[in-house]
Amino acid sequence: MAKYTGKDCALFVPSGTMGNLISVLGHCEHRGSEVLLGDQAHIFLYEQAGMAQLGGIQPHIIPTRPDGTFDVNEITLRLRIEDVHCPRTTLICIENTQNVCGGKILPSLWIDQVGSIAKSVGIPLHMDGARLMNAVVASGESAARILQGCDTASICFSKGLGTPVGSIIVGPEEFMYRAIRLRKVLGGGMRQAGMLAAAALYALENMVDRLADDHKHAKLLAQAISETGSKNVICQVADVHTNIAIVHLHPDAITPEQFCNRLSMVGKVCLF
Ligand SMILES: Cc1ncc(COP(=O)(O)O)c(C=O)c1O
Repeated sequence: MAKYTGKDCALFVPSGTMGNLISVLGHCEHRGSEVLLGDQAHIFLYEQAGMAQLGGIQPHIIPTRPDGTFDVNEITLRLRIEDVHCPRTTLICIENTQNVCGGKILPSLWIDQVGSIAKSVGIPLHMDGARLMNAVVASGESAARILQGCDTASICFSKGLGTPVGSIIVGPEEFMYRAIRLRKVLGGGMRQAGMLAAAALYALENMVDRLADDHKHAKLLAQAISETGSKNVICQVADVHTNIAIVHLHPDAITPEQFCNRLSMVGKVCLF
């Protein structure tokens, strides 16, 4: 994975949440630090505020745009470096593909821009790359190219790639020593981990290209929904970049449960 991502080292961890938490804690060694990230980031929305709960670190959110990016000018406006009243900004996080925005692929030039701003102020950039391989397959760019401007990334093998457990943190060697200690204290140290590593290796060698099928299927699903012309069930085909198709339901017309029941009838009757 180090070779695949163009980084020095790779460290196996049990989950994406742990990969992100170790990365945040590893970069922000002092309580009272602040992390800049999008307000639709998985780290902010769905990881129990782990950085605050366990590290005394505060997330500082930037509005996420529908394409999964945020305005880079917001970074400089929100940076807090040295003021006795303020926390210190010690990390920037981005997410690729962006889950809540519908599996959107972040443009590499935007990532580079965020990376060079971060570098210019001496702050690292971490990518929550839970679905990085989806971005690789759909964009045709290598993981190393996509991650060029990032210091670290957490990448999952359990999403779309078929392994039951497992994520990898990639980054510089000196960071990985901190990451190993953090993995241990979080209870993520593993002994007989070869079986999991084998599943991840298999996924890397055999399952990545297959993600293209998932992307095709997500588009087909979106197309089929959109072709019904329903005003109550809406799915924008152009918004499907990878393996996520977000369906908007009119709350007065159909509940998510009813919609799922109707979907299970596809091939029999399907009337929206
Ligand atoms: C973007 C993103 N990051 C992190 C995670 C967390 O991964 P895990 O469920 O392995 O902890 C997810 C899970 O869906 C995710 O979508």
